[in-house]
Amino acid sequence: MAEEPVNVNEFQELARRALRKMYFDFYNGGAEDQHTLKENEEAFHRITFRPRVLVDVSRINMSTTILGYPTSAPIMIAPTGMHKLAHPEGEVATARAAAACNSIMVMSFSSTCTVEEVASSCNAVRFFQIYVFKRRDLTAMVVQRAERCGFKAIIFTVDAPRIGRREADIKNRMIAPQLKNFEGLLSTEVASDKGSNLAASAAARLDPSVCWKDIEWLRSITSLPILIKGVLTAEDATKAMEVGVAGIVVSNHGARQLDYSPATITVLEEVVRAVGAKIPVLVDGGVRRGTDIFKALALGAKAVLIGRPVLYGLAAKGEHGVRQVMEMLKNELELTMALSGCPTLKDITRSHVRTEHDRLNCRL
Ligand SMILES: Cc1cc2nc3c(=O)[nH]c(=O)nc-3n(C[C@H](O)[C@H](O)[C@H](O)COP(=O)(O)O)c2cc1C
Repeated sequence: MAEEPVNVNEFQELARRALRKMYFDFYNGGAEDQHTLKENEEAFHRITFRPRVLVDVSRINMSTTILGYPTSAPIMIAPTGMHKLAHPEGEVATARAAAACNSIMVMSFSSTCTVEEVASSCNAVRFFQIYVFKRRDLTAMVVQRAERCGFKAIIFTVDAPRIGRREADIKNRMIAPQLKNFEGLLSTEVASDKGSNLAASAAARLDPSVCWKDIEWLRSITSLPILIKGVLTAEDATKAMEVGVAGIVVSNHGARQLDYSPATITVLEEVVRAVGAKIPVLVDGGVRRGTDIFKALALGAKAVLIGRPVLYGLAAKGEHGVRQVMEMLKNELELTMALSGCPTLKDITRSHVRTEHDRLNCRL
């Protein structure tokens, strides 16, 4: 019998064994040289702690609110596409796991269950991620369905005017399944019999002309708060503030879009400073340990989002695997808080971590 995983990283191997190579590679891979993919994780390893001692840590409280919605810990489920490639219950299993952990799930636009199926499966607080299609009527239709189903916010992913070059998918001739929310509405002629259909279908569907003024269009089709996901610079954070978004997700799409983008944890502080605590800043990319989550919070994030580990948990053990992944991260965060002298999230400050930048400045 396979050994029980003791940390989130060990789910990767379980997923590799559970999945067809084509699907594992689809989940696992990044763009081109996969430089950013490695950096997302390694940049966390270069941040060290400045723990405090002799603090009463007999009670640790990790609970918080995101846009006013309570959650047991600052750990959310990132939007990732096509959960049915990992498990037959797909996004429904993920949503149930989120509900069981009192966590917030962001459901992907590229899902293999409908918004209605996920909404009726459990009572979790859910946000809905979107892309803007050339067929804006289709984007508007799904946004409005999500709103009717009780999703609480729209997360607009802004780093994908085109799809990044993921070479494993090209080699494997990866064929994406139907996007369930658009069943019967999207043409299937983009599916190629020669190779992967991912790039072709994205190019046919995504609207590469989308720009800042389109936030206004989004506002015209929904009354939900709009967050943008994929910001990596102070300049764009400032623009996001100007157009009045409700929050920002610092993200490089799990290193699947522009290779040699910075590791998200290295630019989080720049974005947080530009935003100045006016709206929540979330971050994702390479979060694999409770210590990573603590580091992100110390650098100003309100919460982190988890991408691949959730997919690996789902592939290995369905809903139960996703729950295990989320619980492991929660437990690790709790221990990190105790060992750093921080009984509540408010106690976690910038002075609890030392970044590469801090070390360089010390030497000057
Ligand atoms: C297989 C896969 C599919 C993804 N699909 C989407 C998506 O549909 N929409 C989106 O905004 N981001 C998508 N992402 C990016 C994630 O939301 C998130 O930014 C990233 O996975 C975080 O990095 P991590 O996987 O290292 O945790 C996807 C990521 C992966 C790995």
